[in-house]
Amino acid sequence: MSEILRFAPSILARLGEELVSHPDQGIVELVKNAYDADARLCQVTLSETTQHGGRVIVRDDGDGMTIQQIRDGWLVLGRSGKDPMERTRLGRLPVGEKGLGRLAALRLGQRVVLVTRPRDEPGAEYCMEIDWALFDNVPVVEDVPLEIEKRPTSEGYGTSITISNLVSPLRRMDTKRLARSLIPLADPFESDRSFSAELISDDFRDLEQLVTSGYFDEAHHRLRAELDPDARGSAVAMDHRGNIKWKADHRDLGRSGTYRSPRRCSNSGSSPSTFRHSRAGRQPWEKYGTGFRRLEGCIYITGV
Ligand SMILES: Nc1ncnc2c1ncn2[C@@H]1O[C@H](COP(=O)(O)OP(=O)(O)OP(=O)(O)O)[C@@H](O)[C@H]1O
Ligand SMILES: [Mg+2]
Repeated sequence: MSEILRFAPSILARLGEELVSHPDQGIVELVKNAYDADARLCQVTLSETTQHGGRVIVRDDGDGMTIQQIRDGWLVLGRSGKDPMERTRLGRLPVGEKGLGRLAALRLGQRVVLVTRPRDEPGAEYCMEIDWALFDNVPVVEDVPLEIEKRPTSEGYGTSITISNLVSPLRRMDTKRLARSLIPLADPFESDRSFSAELISDDFRDLEQLVTSGYFDEAHHRLRAELDPDARGSAVAMDHRGNIKWKADHRDLGRSGTYRSPRRCSNSGSSPSTFRHSRAGRQPWEKYGTGFRRLEGCIYITGV
């Protein structure tokens, strides 16, 4: 006699809730999927999410999914066709690999609608609905049939996921965390390959702004270095509020050997890693100048 291993529906709730520490992180998982699908734009729309029963829509213009990809990918939990070492069509390294990320978001609401238009099948759209309540009355996950409808469309390729009837509201704090998490996913320099994420929220207009303009403003630290025409260098490290934490002038930077932060500007924060510098005498540009008027650069340190 042979048997198969089956899953009780409660495993879906467990996995969905335990995968992420906060509900907003589930939404971020959907945005990451849009990035992996080579989308250029991913819009997250929050409607009445400050109360129970709100709605979240995540829409992208990525490659979408064919029916085969829905069946063998989206509907199979724990399987991912992504290889973190293999670049996508647009040359991105995928951020997903476990095949579970979507579950964290899909469980945020009672109902989920997936609409996807595959790039490989222009003019076709697939639509599928999941009503989680149907899983409450069955012994195993496999007992709930899911219908996939195919219909014609004149829209371009991409995917949209609507999560409605939210189980718990997304308050300002959650929305702010969501906004902050979206910032480092976007490419700060626009190109035809770059990715951008947008937040649309009637309740928190200021947080919409944070996502669009925040990349540099929200950097945890920034290091600004300067080289004057005589090749005399200087550098300052600032925290996210613009307070100068460390400073180094030409003498500090030119000192040979290993040394710790040249000049700490406040007593808060930890020391940056040690600098190693060796100098073999005076360099010609120090004597004759560089030929440049002045060089300045800034490194932004941000977190994902
Ligand atoms: N927006 C999307 N566009 C195209 N395909 C998608 C999209 N979202 C999900 N998919 C497909 O569904 C699969 C499952 O997504 P899911 O986020 O659960 O897993 P993953 O991204 O592969 O890995 P991880 O759990 O690390 O995020 C993906 O591997 C991808 O094939
Ligand atoms: Mg993912």
